[in-house]
Amino acid sequence: MNRLAIVGWMAGLLVAVWAGLAETAPPVNSVRDFMRKKLVHSQKVLEGVTTDDLEMVAKHSQELSLLSQAATWQVLQTPEYLQHSTEFRRAADSLTEAARKRNADGVALAFVDVTMKCVTCHKYVRGVRTAAK
Ligand code: HEC
Repeated sequence: MNRLAIVGWMAGLLVAVWAGLAETAPPVNSVRDFMRKKLVHSQKVLEGVTTDDLEMVAKHSQELSLLSQAATWQVLQTPEYLQHSTEFRRAADSLTEAARKRNADGVALAFVDVTMKCVTCHKYVRGVRTAAK
C-alpha cells in the first residue's frame, strides 16, 4: 500500500471512529472533557499527516502520550485496561519518534496503529460496561 492509500484509508477509519464516539455518553463530565482532548489531538495529528507538518504530528502525538499518563485516564482499574493504556502510549511514542525523524511512511503507519488502539480500548471498555449491567 502506498502512503496516500494509507492516509486515505486512515482518514476514513477516523471519521467512522469519530462518528461512533459522538454517540456515546460517559457519566462524568470532567472525564468526558478530558477524553475529548484525545479527539482534538488526533484530529491535529491527522492534519499534520495530511499537510506533511511533522512538527504538528510530533507535538500532538506527544500530548496523546501524556494524556494516557494522567490520573483521569485511569477510568478502569483492571490489568487489561492498564495493558491497553501501555500499548496506546507505546504507539503514540512511536508516532512521535517517527515524526521527529521525519519518517513520513513510519508516521502514516504509526498513526494507523494509534487509531487502532483507540478502537481496541473502547471496545474493551464497552464490553466491560455491558457485562456489568
Ligand atoms: C486505554 C483505553 C483507551 C484508549 C487507548 C483510548 N480511549 Fe478514548 N475513552 C476511554 C474511556 C475509558 C473513555 C470513557 C468512556 C466512558 O466513561 O463511558 C473514553 C472516552 C473517549 C471519548 C469521549 C466520548 C464522549 O462521549 O464524549 C472520546 C472522544 C475518546 N475517548 C477518544 C479517543 C481517541 C481519539 C483515542 C485514540 C487517539 C482514544 N480515545 C483512545 C478509553 C480509551
